Amino acid sequence: MLSIPINSLLPSAPRLVTSLPGPRAQAIVERDRAVTSPSYTRDYPLVVARGEGCMVEDVDGNVFLDMTAGIAVTATGHAHPEVVRAIQEQAARLLHMSGTDFYYEPMVELAEQLALRAPFAGGDTTFPAKVFFTNSGAESNEGAIKLARYYTKRSLIVAFLGAFHGRTYGAMSLTGSKAVQRANFGPLVPGVTHIPYGTHASLDYLEKNLFTTILPPHEVAAIVVEPIQGEGGYIVPEDGFLQRIREICDRYGILMVVDEVQAGMGRTGRLFAIEHWGVTPDIITTAKGIASGMPLGAILSRPELMTWPPGSHATTFGGNPVACAAGIATLRLLDSGLMANASRMGEILQAGLTQLHEKFLNISLPRGKGLMVAVDLLDEAGNYNPKLRDRIIQEAFLRGLLLLGCGKAAIRFCPPLVINSDQIQTALDIISNVLIEIL
Ligand SMILES: Cc1ncc(COP(=O)(O)O)c(C=O)c1O
Repeated sequence: MLSIPINSLLPSAPRLVTSLPGPRAQAIVERDRAVTSPSYTRDYPLVVARGEGCMVEDVDGNVFLDMTAGIAVTATGHAHPEVVRAIQEQAARLLHMSGTDFYYEPMVELAEQLALRAPFAGGDTTFPAKVFFTNSGAESNEGAIKLARYYTKRSLIVAFLGAFHGRTYGAMSLTGSKAVQRANFGPLVPGVTHIPYGTHASLDYLEKNLFTTILPPHEVAAIVVEPIQGEGGYIVPEDGFLQRIREICDRYGILMVVDEVQAGMGRTGRLFAIEHWGVTPDIITTAKGIASGMPLGAILSRPELMTWPPGSHATTFGGNPVACAAGIATLRLLDSGLMANASRMGEILQAGLTQLHEKFLNISLPRGKGLMVAVDLLDEAGNYNPKLRDRIIQEAFLRGLLLLGCGKAAIRFCPPLVINSDQIQTALDIISNVLIEIL
């Protein structure tokens, strides 16, 4: 059964009561400009006061339909009552004790729940994974690099152009997304080689050119790959690409690290996106949707890989009890209907976007899985049209629809997994109206 909050306070469709940004939002944006880092990337002046399901209300009382889920995070919807209750109850009992030095049950319970669902074969059949908790996606990837190097005693890593793995030094060194994310930050962590994403030609190049010249495969610790490239444009790889990475890893004793930070936790209709391809990775990194908005991430590995000794890797806050309580509630909701809803709604969304593609030459066919879907915006000659993409995102905001871009000229759709078909239709209608007006 799909668990949708009752006693809704917000309408289920956009409701605008001021011009945008409204006066309160405008004042907060100005205060923000004076004191926060200019490195944040706000596309439009949305100042959120509260959220519920797929809707968010700004400080002026305007209500928006959220196709972003706060960058693919609020898996169970904004402020799902069961998640909120779990957080409140846990907060009243214990806010923090640090799982690095002490024990508490929510951390153990969430680790058990994740380990039971991890798509690893073999090993301990009761718990086919071990779990290390972090505070973010970047931190999960940092830890995964360390674990892969520690376990294999090798230093080199293969990653992909277009990949996004985070902005801390190790994660940034894997990231191959935008020049601005690297410019003037060097030197980065050495030993990372990037190859194009998603194609067999790229893996041919790795094996036939790189492995035979500058990249001795027996010195490669890990291939780090997103099962669907997220920030890079919601790119679904060619058939057999992920299977072939597994084969290459097996051939040379390399670990396959799958970054599920954006694609994981039910968004694609499976708990982990890699399950769509039946590939067994060695390490999975996750974060974002894992605790519906509480800061939490995790590294899952085959149990035998976590051989690092006490003190070799730890964190004060990772696995915080309140975040873990939210994670346990999130998993329960994913299992009891939300993952299935993501599959169903994803099909409806792709069907609707296909109709938009048939109506407007400037919209590509959709791609993705579940509720991880994108379309490219194109010019008349079929080239990427980032200006049109940016304009649509702005115009949609002014009509009460929250969208995010990704890739070269894509709009991504990563709504909370509680979205329903009426809300999908509302989003499609708004985009259609925007296109009719601006083209
Ligand atoms: C695939 C992927 N990995 C890692 C990250 C970094 O996560 P965080 O921003 O929590 O550090 C992101 C963030 O967008 C991501 O999409």
